Amino acid sequence: MRIAILGSGSLGSLYAALLSQVEDVELLIHGRGSHGAHMAANGLQLEGLETIFLSNAEVFFSLEEVGIPSEYLGTIDFALLTGKAGQTTYLAGLAHQLLSEQGMALCLSNGLGHAEKCIEILGPQRVFAATSTHGAWRPSPGCVNWAGKGKTVLGSLPGGPGEIEAKPLLEVFLAAGLEPSWSSDGLAALWNKVLLNIAINPIAALAGVENGALLSPDLFSSAFSTMLEGAAVARMERVILPDDAELEQQLRQVITATSTNICSMLQDIRAGRNTEISVLNQAIVTRGERAGIATPLNQMLVSMVTALHVE
Ligand code: PAF
Repeated sequence: MRIAILGSGSLGSLYAALLSQVEDVELLIHGRGSHGAHMAANGLQLEGLETIFLSNAEVFFSLEEVGIPSEYLGTIDFALLTGKAGQTTYLAGLAHQLLSEQGMALCLSNGLGHAEKCIEILGPQRVFAATSTHGAWRPSPGCVNWAGKGKTVLGSLPGGPGEIEAKPLLEVFLAAGLEPSWSSDGLAALWNKVLLNIAINPIAALAGVENGALLSPDLFSSAFSTMLEGAAVARMERVILPDDAELEQQLRQVITATSTNICSMLQDIRAGRNTEISVLNQAIVTRGERAGIATPLNQMLVSMVTALHVE
């Protein structure tokens, strides 16, 4: 099976390292910047929950700055989009060129709207819903730390491929230790993950703490109240979510499992990058306004995180 990992930051590099261990998987890993350059020149080092060194003799690391060799075009079975929120349209375009006739794509990026962007470019019949709660951060270019064992959920979207089409990829994810499961309601799966991110990421980022610090009663209460605002918006959009007690349990479970992780929003702020707040808490605020639901906690977090943006 040929898999392309498009947008290899922390999460993409984690998936790349783990998938490289699975027999009969051939990888194309597409990155950029200093992390991409390090991988292309020296290989990829995974540390943390597992140690793997992936040399550039074993897999092909391509660079956004250089482009992808033409022999890969039209040959990929599954494209995993793992870039930052702002890259989805570009990466879906790349997937369009790389996928074979039967090839399919999924986007593991945080936030709302990615699946829709992929569908616009690839068509609904080629796109799965997908989420990941694995926690990973980059201590240095070329190196990724697997700090929290999470889950990978694949799901179906209206008019999209189903469990039968997902099965080969689910099997490969299982062999890689990526803890996959299937959801017949891909939209609910995407919202579930967004609710976790709106609760964890801005609070951990503003407080400058690892995820585990959010287990303190005060921070947990702020995180859960933020999550509930988002859940109210989702339910108004007729998304079928678990009840509030189950949502609270999920939040506690993900924070515990990723307690030593530096969440992606804190990584962005520390690296001087703009964050993904526009597809997380800002998306909740915008949808809340449309539905007539007040989301003051999300609004406050948006204004505070945006104040840290560079431009
Ligand atoms: O964005 C992140 O960092 C991750 O989605 C998660 C699961 C919150 C772990 O830190």
